[in-house]
Amino acid sequence: MSIQYKPFAPLVQRIKQDGKCLEGGILKVDSFINHQIDPTLLQSMSIEFVRRFANKEINKILTIEASGIAPAVMVGFLLNVPVVFAKKKKPSTMDNMLVTEVFSFTKNKSYTVCVSKDYLHEGDKVLFIDDFLANGNAAKGIIELVEKANATLSGMGFLVEKSFQHGGDYLREKGYQVESLAIIDSLDNCKITFKE
Ligand code: G4P
Repeated sequence: MSIQYKPFAPLVQRIKQDGKCLEGGILKVDSFINHQIDPTLLQSMSIEFVRRFANKEINKILTIEASGIAPAVMVGFLLNVPVVFAKKKKPSTMDNMLVTEVFSFTKNKSYTVCVSKDYLHEGDKVLFIDDFLANGNAAKGIIELVEKANATLSGMGFLVEKSFQHGGDYLREKGYQVESLAIIDSLDNCKITFKE
């Protein structure tokens, strides 16, 4: 599937400089995205998301714990809208939840994802933000939660998409506006090949 893609140069550059390739098609970016965080890069990536979704109505940012929270908060701050993170374990103190199952390819097991009906409801116009788009299972879970809430998904923004796992194909074919700041076509032989 051919897509409209504009690489966000500061992120591509940083992955070239500090990203590490692990066995099994995993890109390690924990020195600047998902363990140690570079706030300046995070800010510039979030500004880029705001620019790319400027045509959309958005009253809420949604993400999944844990690594999606940092970029989601920064985008929410810039748009001055609340940020909700779906939880991976149903809190015992909470009823009134929307719940779905997500299968994790990397961990080869399913987990429950839930969000309170108090924070995701009818009429919400939601932007989903996450760090990685791989097979798209987390995104599918989010679509289900948004549908259960009778809310609308205005778009989906990812820092890094791995096109060889095809989650992006699925989401774009469904008609969602998917914006990925860096797309990686291959991690074969531990070489990072970016989409041009
Ligand atoms: P999917 O949602 O797109 O189908 O992805 P998958 O199940 O394969 O990924 C599960 C977890 O692994 C997600 O984080 C996702 O962000 C992360 N992930 C996928 N590919 C990569 C990669 O190449 N590098 C890194 N660093 N992470 C990757 P998670 O388990 O929900 O963990 P977290 O958000 O709590 O960190």
